[in-house]
Amino acid sequence: MLQRSTPEPGLERDAHQDDPRAALDAEVREVRAAYEGARGRDAARVERGAAETWAEHNAVEGRRLVREIVLEWVEPRAGLRVLDAGCGYGELARGLAAAGAEVTGVDLVEERVAAARAAAGPAGPTFATGSFLDRLAADRFDVVVLVEVLEDYSPAARVTVLRAVAAARPARVVLAFRTADTVRGGLWDRFGAGRADRIHPIELLRRVHVDTPLRQRRQRTVGVRNYRAQVGDLVLDRPPGG
Ligand SMILES: C[S@@+](CC[C@H](N)C(=O)[O-])C[C@H]1O[C@@H](n2cnc3c(N)ncnc32)[C@H](O)[C@@H]1O
Repeated sequence: MLQRSTPEPGLERDAHQDDPRAALDAEVREVRAAYEGARGRDAARVERGAAETWAEHNAVEGRRLVREIVLEWVEPRAGLRVLDAGCGYGELARGLAAAGAEVTGVDLVEERVAAARAAAGPAGPTFATGSFLDRLAADRFDVVVLVEVLEDYSPAARVTVLRAVAAARPARVVLAFRTADTVRGGLWDRFGAGRADRIHPIELLRRVHVDTPLRQRRQRTVGVRNYRAQVGDLVLDRPPGG
């Protein structure tokens, strides 16, 4: 969760209760600004595997293991339409496309999308700049993948994001996030209090179960020294024949 300039405690929660989509859009703007600034440069080192510290090396290794699980669980194959929501530099999207899936990677930050596109070559995934929330409303996907994206949002917004994903009715959502037991240090400390927050899996999944039609059918944890993450495979709960 990014540090935000809420003047009064409680206002953020009210905003999400009154108009969840408007409150979410405001957070999306903050996330974009943060990634376009210093925070994006810090995160880029880990995302591009150019770690500088012990904690960053752990994150690079942990993220590689997370990608392996996501790649296996998506079961990429010809004709499977996959949205890599918040694709960053596109490494996962490239892996999914190489395995045959029809992949779209969407990210808020133009510099990230340009780098992803350059690394992919002409036969790679399709990359676009913008919010994956708009893309979900405009297009149909079989699987939506979210890797280390929900962390940037407040707890209320995380549920609003997953409700929007479920409303697009993909058959599955593969979700990976850093968990609350990740030890503070290195990169995470430099993000400052309230930033790059980790997620408590039970808290998030309880709200997902209550507030969305998504149901987790399996989960795996990844731990590399101080880096901890959870990967979940969620299916849309629909009525028989629905
Ligand atoms: C920590 S990075 C992870 C990137 C990538 N998934 C990975 O694991 O390498 C989070 C990314 O999500 C993107 N993001 C966050 N909210 C988004 C939104 N609503 N639409 C598109 N991208 C978003 C950010 O711009 C950032 O590049």
